[in-house]
Amino acid sequence: MAANYQTFDNCVQMSTVSVEADRDGGEPGRPTVAILGSGDYSRSLAGRLVRSGFPVAVGSRKPDRNARFFTQGVDVTTRQAALAGDRLVFVAVHRENYPALQADREALAGKILIDVSNNTQLHEAESNAEYLASLFPDSTVVKGFNVLSAWSLSSGLVGGSKEVFISSDDDNARKTVMHLAQDLGFAPVDYGSLRAAREIEAIPLRLLPSWHLALKMFSCVFVIFFLYCLYRIVIFRALQGTNQASHIPVSVMNMTFAGTAITMLCLVYIPGIFAVFAQLYNGTKYKRFPGGLDKWMLARKQLGLLSLLASVVHAVLSLMIWSPSYYARLFENTVTPSGEVEYGKLRWSGETFLLFGTLSLFLMTVLGVSSIPSITNAMNWREFNFVQSKLGWLVLLFAIVHNAVYGAEVFTLPALFSSYTIALFQLTLILPAILILMKVVTLLPCVSSRVDRIRRGWEREKPANRVVTPEEPQEETSLISA
Ligand SMILES: Cc1cc2nc3c(=O)[nH]c(=O)nc-3n(C[C@H](O)[C@H](O)[C@H](O)COP(=O)(O)OP(=O)(O)OC[C@H]3O[C@@H](n4cnc5c(N)ncnc54)[C@H](O)[C@@H]3O)c2cc1C
Ligand SMILES: NC(=O)c1ccc[n+]([C@@H]2O[C@H](COP(=O)([O-])OP(=O)(O)OC[C@H]3O[C@@H](n4cnc5c(N)ncnc54)[C@H](OP(=O)(O)O)[C@@H]3O)[C@@H](O)[C@H]2O)c1
Ligand code: HEM
Repeated sequence: MAANYQTFDNCVQMSTVSVEADRDGGEPGRPTVAILGSGDYSRSLAGRLVRSGFPVAVGSRKPDRNARFFTQGVDVTTRQAALAGDRLVFVAVHRENYPALQADREALAGKILIDVSNNTQLHEAESNAEYLASLFPDSTVVKGFNVLSAWSLSSGLVGGSKEVFISSDDDNARKTVMHLAQDLGFAPVDYGSLRAAREIEAIPLRLLPSWHLALKMFSCVFVIFFLYCLYRIVIFRALQGTNQASHIPVSVMNMTFAGTAITMLCLVYIPGIFAVFAQLYNGTKYKRFPGGLDKWMLARKQLGLLSLLASVVHAVLSLMIWSPSYYARLFENTVTPSGEVEYGKLRWSGETFLLFGTLSLFLMTVLGVSSIPSITNAMNWREFNFVQSKLGWLVLLFAIVHNAVYGAEVFTLPALFSSYTIALFQLTLILPAILILMKVVTLLPCVSSRVDRIRRGWEREKPANRVVTPEEPQEETSLISA
């Protein structure tokens, strides 16, 4: 183990470190690690260091008061005492308190300071680590460990990411801290110079970056359908004197989720079709897709998973209110001599529509399961493409049948124009119908064979005098984002 810390010998003499380690009760060869600050992060980090065999000294302004919060084996002391000797120093205080540490400037000189801080918002001009380096020019600052939460440090890393990103202007110091990260059970990633700390500090501030586009599309679609259903079911009827407001929570929401589910599914498969047409138009695959098509293509997984989410909610809500009082026309019924209506079993339309809804949901779940990274990795490219592309189109086809059969018997003019709008099942059939039509066009032998050739590298002949733009040839945009 001692060898791991030899890269640090610019700043720390190995002989001193080993003797200290033995004295402080850690595993032989482990250097003593100092932590400045005794807050949440310090406590969790100290616990992890002790469990990994490192002697730990915590420097606090009030050691007597704070010592009881630490695991046994951690030496909670004054800042000056914690900094005695040659040690790696974690700076576990907030950025605004860095100037207060300048009282210990001399004691920190020649040491490696590991900046673990996070921001609440981006300081684009200068990272916290660069700021720390400017305050302590005689120390070597390394950025790292900020992507771990106090909770993940103390909970034994179960479930969280093990990657920590390390950067410093000093190669030896960076390597030393990377070894330390490894010894604590993390996977260090070398991010190069300290300037990269700006990027590292931005990582915890990002919130689901790959989901932004898909979530925006989902929100827009959901709101549009909600307002549409609200108008048809509640507002229009209220204007006619019928109060249906009590049906907003389940009926209106159910229809909203149903419309959102099928539309999001279309939004998964539309960009692929646009890509085909773009390639046919360009006569080459070595050209960037227009506008936001690239981004849209890369959001298909998230769009698909949101469609699955909407479908599950729709199916659950449907089953909760599944009864003849809600779906009378899907059940056989007889009128008794006294004039009462008695409902029997489901009619063909009821059974067929439920079958296709269930099949659609079941197959979509298969797509969802196959997108789990460990399952994706266990499939070869052909298997993945079969599930995602072929089964995916089948899901859409089943959803269309489910929707069309549900509305089959009311495809009449009055239903079309009641409340000056068309019924939801009619509205939600328009986009899928256009999409299927476009798909059929791409499958026509004359179109398909040309697409095939383009995807194998064939290019339409360029006019002799045509100037090739700098963006050609380019790498093909990935059509499958794993
Ligand atoms: C629940 C769920 C989970 C999902 N998870 C993922 C995921 O993990 N990863 C992911 O990338 N996507 C995922 N998706 C999105 C989607 O299933 C995939 O992106 C899928 O591969 C898209 O298929 P495609 O046929 O449109 O696209 P592509 O395979 O990209 O094809 C684009 C278009 O080109 C056409 N085409 C291809 N070759 C030819 C040819 N020779 N001639 C004519 N036309 C041709 C295809 O028919 C298609 O229309 C998920 C979707 C859902 C619903
Ligand atoms: N909590 C997390 O999950 C987490 C995750 C990643 C990164 N971080 C980073 O770790 C650092 C510490 O976070 P934390 O959650 O542990 O914060 P915290 O609980 O507020 O602790 C900060 C510590 O700084 C010390 N301190 C406060 N004011 C000071 C001053 N004026 N001068 C000197 N020291 C002072 C205090 O220790 P003493 O009273 O003992 O001196 C205090 O306990 C922050 O930079 C944070 O961004 C935290
Ligand atoms: C177990 C699975 C499913 C069940 C039990 C089910 C049930 C229902 C019910 C009861 C309705 C009538 C809703 C109403 O008008 O009140 C309906 C309509 C609809 N469903 Fe499903 N469904 C299922 C799966 C799906 C899936 C996977 C999709 C799409 C991806 C979908 C899309 C639709 C659409 C678009 C409508 C028409 C909306 C309307 O006009 O009300 N359904 N479904």
